[in-house]
Amino acid sequence: MTESQLEPEHLRAVIARELTGARQRTALLTDSVDEADLVRQHSPLMSPLVWDLAHIANQEELWLLREVGGRDSMHPEIDPLYDAFEHPRSERPTLPLLAPGEARAYGHEVRGRVLDLLDRASFTGTRLLGDGFAFGMIAQHEVQHDETMLITHQIRGGAPVLSAPSPAPAPADAFRLPAEVLVPGGAFTMGTSTEPWALDNERPAHTVEVAPFYLDTTPVTSGAYIEFIDSGGYDDPRWWTGAGWEHRQQARLTAPLYWQRDGGQQSGQWTRRVFGRQEPVRPDEPVLHVSWYEADAYARWAGRRLPTEAEWEKAARFDPATGLTRRYPWGNADPAASLANLGQVFLRPAPAGSYPGGAAPCGARQLIGDVWEWTSSDFGPYPGFEAWPYKEYSEVFFGPEYKVLRGGSFGVSPVACRSTFRNWDYPIRRQIFAGFRTARSATAELA
Ligand SMILES: [Fe+2]
Repeated sequence: MTESQLEPEHLRAVIARELTGARQRTALLTDSVDEADLVRQHSPLMSPLVWDLAHIANQEELWLLREVGGRDSMHPEIDPLYDAFEHPRSERPTLPLLAPGEARAYGHEVRGRVLDLLDRASFTGTRLLGDGFAFGMIAQHEVQHDETMLITHQIRGGAPVLSAPSPAPAPADAFRLPAEVLVPGGAFTMGTSTEPWALDNERPAHTVEVAPFYLDTTPVTSGAYIEFIDSGGYDDPRWWTGAGWEHRQQARLTAPLYWQRDGGQQSGQWTRRVFGRQEPVRPDEPVLHVSWYEADAYARWAGRRLPTEAEWEKAARFDPATGLTRRYPWGNADPAASLANLGQVFLRPAPAGSYPGGAAPCGARQLIGDVWEWTSSDFGPYPGFEAWPYKEYSEVFFGPEYKVLRGGSFGVSPVACRSTFRNWDYPIRRQIFAGFRTARSATAELA
């Protein structure tokens, strides 16, 4: 959001639009499968879709109707069922959850009351209300669960239920792009203290010194990743960290998740399952569904490394012409369909080199949207971090066991995507819409 959008009447309209858009996406994801599919657990890594559905409503009730509106709990007996910290995902199917019809009715009732509250909200008086933060947080929460539910759709077996057009082919200039771009060294402003709906882990803005480095112009493609596979990358412990190699052996990793090679032949065609459809792997698309360990091994094999989180953000935001830090690679305007592949418009990343209008000042493309990008960094607090509005949003996850991902994927809605937005996950995780790009230091060369 920009300054002018913070005028109360404009803010009210933006909030209504974001809440409605999120609910349309939730409906698409939950109305497209039958009741059996809604209550089934498709993977121990995921909740049944019907849990997400009622959890979205429960968080909306908790933060907007109770915290902001001062109401009592509508159904105190179900609150513990939908507390993500009380029940891990694997346990959720055993709970006495609301049935699909009940979950929908609950969500509908909460939303009606929230829209009434929004009509008379003043956006002042408390920190939760300021700039409509609580509403923005809840809109982001719902679309984050939409992405989670989209992951469940990719995991589920059976006939495809989602469909979408393919992104446009890469523009003609994609084939002439340099493999890497130079990001100049020096200080830049990382994080934000001004973005109204930024979450606690993105705050506060602070100065970070970054040495000059080269970054891949686009995310690593499936075609490039096949070269890593074909040259025995999965069988050579030199490319893997100790923990990565151990995991690679234990989990018997040989290719990205959902990939298979026709007939199991060394030279056969790679195919992958995409939301229930088996199709040839497209070599020009960013590789998807790789773990941090695989991304890190690929980078070593290529003689490179993963970028740090600070390097990634500097590439995405820093404008050497002005010395200023932008909200997005393309400038300060909100995302648009011509700038980035976001919002589940497509069910896949766009070919590498797409979205020239969304390029960063350094020339890198697709930093926002398409695939989440693994960084080399552990998830930790910025200097001056303050947990807000609750510790369980970020603080309890800080530590070396989680790696940071940046930039969002085709499954992330614009309201929850910024150049400051931080995602985190375990280095073994592959079901998320994650890829990566590689980097190398430029210091030695410039010295
Ligand atoms: Fe949640």
